Amino acid sequence: MNFPRFLVLSCLTGCALLVGACAKRSNVTGHRGGPDRIKLGFLVKQPEEPWFQYEWKGADKAAAQYGFEMIKIGVPDGEKTLAAIDSLAANGAAGFVICTPDVRLGPAIVAKARAAGLKVITVDDRFVGADGKFLEEVPYLGMSASKIGQLSGATLAAEMKHRGWAAADTAACIVTFEELDTARERTDGIIAALKASGFPSERIFKAPQKTTDIPGSFDAANALLAQKTGVKRWLVAGMNDTATLGAVRATEGNGFKAQDVIGVGINGTDCIDELRKPAPTGFYASIYASAPTEGFRTAEMLFLWVKENQTPPLDTRVDGRPITRENFEQVLKGEGIL
Ligand code: GLA
Repeated sequence: MNFPRFLVLSCLTGCALLVGACAKRSNVTGHRGGPDRIKLGFLVKQPEEPWFQYEWKGADKAAAQYGFEMIKIGVPDGEKTLAAIDSLAANGAAGFVICTPDVRLGPAIVAKARAAGLKVITVDDRFVGADGKFLEEVPYLGMSASKIGQLSGATLAAEMKHRGWAAADTAACIVTFEELDTARERTDGIIAALKASGFPSERIFKAPQKTTDIPGSFDAANALLAQKTGVKRWLVAGMNDTATLGAVRATEGNGFKAQDVIGVGINGTDCIDELRKPAPTGFYASIYASAPTEGFRTAEMLFLWVKENQTPPLDTRVDGRPITRENFEQVLKGEGIL
């Protein structure tokens, strides 16, 4: 009587092991829909901005490669962010990558994620605590902001020299958003590089944007241009392509011709239509940093943290390189963006 019972038991154990092995394998080979498949969120503040769409594309590539499920959610404000975390938890996600709509939400996001047992990695915009300091314990990946800003400023200065402009006829409009650290570090870098090139500091003007979209930078630059009459030529820059695009549109509205404006953006993803226009505009260049790489790497880090318990590095930085009408097709093709 014992013998058949032993057979039944060992058969059951064998079957269970087999099922376990199959389920396990399905996580790494990318089979869709299994109950054990790891689910991860990727939350971004401005899903309408190409930068974030390319970040999502990179994250999707990681999901396909490692076989996890990526849940992408746009989180334009605090309420939507906290609701998104609830929904991730309800869906059985193990963690999320986030570019928060407000860095001061950091402590609330961390508390909510912890309560739900979700791991968090920040991308682009770093969480800030109530004391104004970065939440350094939360893994972060983002731009080398000062360095990229300096490259933008150096690009402005080099093109100004190339066009033979006199500093006395020229002023710089730097669209700022100083409440966001990465933005402030970038625009400080732009200003430092302009000064280092010999551009007079009294001809550098900040135009604070209220919102980080084209209308926000357009309004900020318009207000500055209205005050600074007598300037013949403008250097224009900001924390990203959108900031520079809005300011370039403002110079056009104020009667400046394309050849009298040098605009340099940052991102390189949100200026493709602009650089493709048949006639050059005042938007001269951008500093390209790879959004697909940022998306891929943060998603990959999160997956390996969840799956293999590999703790991600706390601070990872990505560099940039200039693109213009001359080389953007080639660079962006190489990046898989075009
Ligand atoms: C911020 C900006 C984005 C992009 C990222 C890059 O989030 O709003 O446009 O520049 O930084 O890190």
